[in-house]
Amino acid sequence: MQINEHFANLHESYLFARVAERVREYEQEHNARAIRLSIGDVTRPLAPCVIRAMHGAVDDLSRAETFRGYGPDATSYAYDFLLSAIQNHYKKRGVALSFGEIFVSDGAKSDLGNLLDLFSVEKVLLPDPVYPAYADANLLAGHKIIYAEGREENGFLPMPEEGKGADLIYLCSPNNPTGAVYSHAQLKRWVEFAGRHGAILLFDAAYEAYVTGNFPRSVYEVEGARECAIEVSSFSKAAGFTGVRCGYTVIPNELVRGGVRLSSLWKRRQACKFNGVSYVTQRGAAAAYSEEGERECGEILAYYRENARILKEGMNGCRLFSTGGVHSPYLWVKCPYGTGEQFFELLLSRCGVAVTPGGGFGAGGERYFRLTAFSSREDTAEAVKRITELLT
Ligand code: MLT
Repeated sequence: MQINEHFANLHESYLFARVAERVREYEQEHNARAIRLSIGDVTRPLAPCVIRAMHGAVDDLSRAETFRGYGPDATSYAYDFLLSAIQNHYKKRGVALSFGEIFVSDGAKSDLGNLLDLFSVEKVLLPDPVYPAYADANLLAGHKIIYAEGREENGFLPMPEEGKGADLIYLCSPNNPTGAVYSHAQLKRWVEFAGRHGAILLFDAAYEAYVTGNFPRSVYEVEGARECAIEVSSFSKAAGFTGVRCGYTVIPNELVRGGVRLSSLWKRRQACKFNGVSYVTQRGAAAAYSEEGERECGEILAYYRENARILKEGMNGCRLFSTGGVHSPYLWVKCPYGTGEQFFELLLSRCGVAVTPGGGFGAGGERYFRLTAFSSREDTAEAVKRITELLT
C-alpha cells in the first residue's frame, strides 16, 4: 500500500491555516490580539429570522410528532422547504430549476473538490489568482492544471483562449480574491467556449449576494449554460453561515456526458459519501432565503459593504492601487514595493493587522495582498488607521 503521492504536490499547509498559525504565533510573542482581515470569516450574528427558524427546528426535534431523523433520501437528504426556497431564489433571476437539480451540502468548498469524483479528467483550467481550494483539490487528484491569467490589464477577468482548453474549467464570479465580476457577454463567451470543446464549467457563485447592478449572479442567466455548467453556491457569505455550514450545488438535467446525466452520478456519489445537512441548519438556510431573510441578511451585507468602502478609502489614502470591494467583500491591494508575503509580515509585525498574502491565490497574486471586509467596524477602522500611519 502506498499513500497518495500527490500530497507531495501540495504546500505543507492550506493557505488560511498557514496564515492563522503565523497570526497565533505573533499573538503569543506579543501578548496582543491581531486584527484579522485575513480569512473571509464573518463576524455579524445570524439574522433574527434565521435564529427563530433554527430555534423552532430544535423544538421540532424535541417532540415525537415533529421529530426528524435522516433527511429525505429521494432528494439527497434535502427537505422540500429548502429546495423550494432555493428554487425561488433562482426564480428571481429568471432561472427555473427543478428540485432534482438542486443538491444541498455542507458548503461550497466541499462540493468544489468532491465534484471531481464524477470525472476522469486530465487537464483543468483555473483562473489565476483564485480561491486556493480548487488547485489543492485538483493537485490531490493528480490533475494537470493550466491557468488563465487574471491581471490588472484584463480587469482580473481572464477570457477563454482557443488552444487553451481543458476538461474542467473553474470560474469564480465575483472572484475571490480580486472581486472582479463577469458581465453577461463575458460569461457567454466562456459558456460558448465550454460548449465548443465539450468542457464543463464549475461555476463558484459563493459571493453572488454581493453583486450589484446588472451582472449575472448565476451562470444559468446565460443561455446554453444548462448544457455545460455546474453551479456551486453557499449560505456562508450571503447569510453568515461560515460556522453553521450549508451550501448547494446545481446540476441541470441537460448536463449529460457519455450518455449519463451528471445529476444522477452526483446523487449516487452523495448517497454513498454524504448524509445530508442537519434539519436545524436546513430550516435556518430556508429562512435566510425568505423575504424577511433577504431583508435582514441585506442589512448585514450592507454593514460589510460599508467596511469595504472604509478599506477602499483607506487604501486610496495610502496611494495604494486596489480593486474589488464593490461586488465582493474583499479588497485586492497592490503592494507599493516587495511582495504580498513581505507585506503580510510587515503589516502583522508593525500594525498587528493580519492580511492574506496574494501569492497564496496563485502566481498572479505575488505582488498583492487581500483584505476582508468581514471584520467588525471598529477593527476595520482601527486597521486602516494603523496601516495609514505606517505607510504615509
Ligand atoms: C476565504 O477567505 O477566501 C474564504 O473564506 C475561505 C473559504 O471560504 O474557505
